Amino acid sequence: MEKKIVLVTGATSGIGRHAAVFLAGRGHTVLATGRNVEALAELQREAADLPLSTLRMDVTDAASIAEAVREVDRRTDGHGVDVLVSNAARGMGGALTDVDDEHLRAVFETNVFGTMAVIRAFVPAMQERGSGRLINISSMGGRITFPFLGAYHGTKYALEGMSDALRRELAMFGIDVVLIEPGYVRSKLLDRTMETMHDASKDGSPYRHAYARADKLAERTRRIAAGPAKVSRAIAKAIDARRPQARYVVTRNARAFLTAFKILPTRWVDALLKRMYGLRPGDREDPEPASSGRHSPAHRTDAP
Ligand SMILES: NC(=O)c1ccc[n+]([C@@H]2O[C@H](COP(=O)([O-])OP(=O)(O)OC[C@H]3O[C@@H](n4cnc5c(N)ncnc54)[C@H](OP(=O)(O)O)[C@@H]3O)[C@@H](O)[C@H]2O)c1
Repeated sequence: MEKKIVLVTGATSGIGRHAAVFLAGRGHTVLATGRNVEALAELQREAADLPLSTLRMDVTDAASIAEAVREVDRRTDGHGVDVLVSNAARGMGGALTDVDDEHLRAVFETNVFGTMAVIRAFVPAMQERGSGRLINISSMGGRITFPFLGAYHGTKYALEGMSDALRRELAMFGIDVVLIEPGYVRSKLLDRTMETMHDASKDGSPYRHAYARADKLAERTRRIAAGPAKVSRAIAKAIDARRPQARYVVTRNARAFLTAFKILPTRWVDALLKRMYGLRPGDREDPEPASSGRHSPAHRTDAP
């Protein structure tokens, strides 16, 4: 197995953190990046015996990305990164009509524009060298859609389309582009997503009753969620492969959902989801119209 220089974004928690430690444990030189300096320091302490160093990089901050590129250049003697794992993302819950423009933009800012900004910053060195690999952490949610996750799904569908284009555009430079599509994985993402859904509910949303059901469904989700190790192993496989696949579907729950959505008629899937989430006309407990002035479509995202 060839040892690579691997940069991971959003390595301060969840999948990114696990992957950074796992890949360093396999002998790769890992640059673990994130915006939370305390979490980076803790990771550095934990991985003291591994070929892992941490670096501050906020994917929504152009100056922070430029500084990280300079620092990576310095640490790698001008080589740059062999593999860029674009993992940083935020979740957001709530019916799309409860999400205002500011918050919709904020989730796209991180998950789409931030991801692209980092890719644009690190790809030139790969093009110059004639080799490199982009590993984009998407989701089964980049191919199938659940109610109240429309904003998040929008970002992941965008990432899927952009990754397909990048794969075709960058192949001539010896750069591979890979999508990792996990299903439910234990991390802070679901809790943060549910918090934003609760905020939407507080604003007197006409979906309050359905959010309560979504809460119960989230409990079930937590029970079927896999550990992050499965995703880390898929990332390692995508790094090691001589000719990587375009997509790696990870976790049993992702395979099951993707298959069900593929084989069932859309009408059936819609009916099932509307029933599960309480989205049929008779399901509303409080049919007070949203135009009553109680409801303002604004709530915060999971940003600290
Ligand atoms: N968990 C799942 O069920 C699941 C399923 C499918 C796909 N995924 C994908 O897996 C990836 C990792 O998510 P996770 O589940 O591990 O969630 P997580 O624990 O919330 O991790 C997200 C990471 O992204 C970082 N991040 C957010 N905004 C950032 C920014 N502007 N700059 C730099 N870092 C930033 C977070 O840092 P802070 O702590 O500073 O916010 C955190 O380290 C995401 O792309 C997610 O969409 C997750």
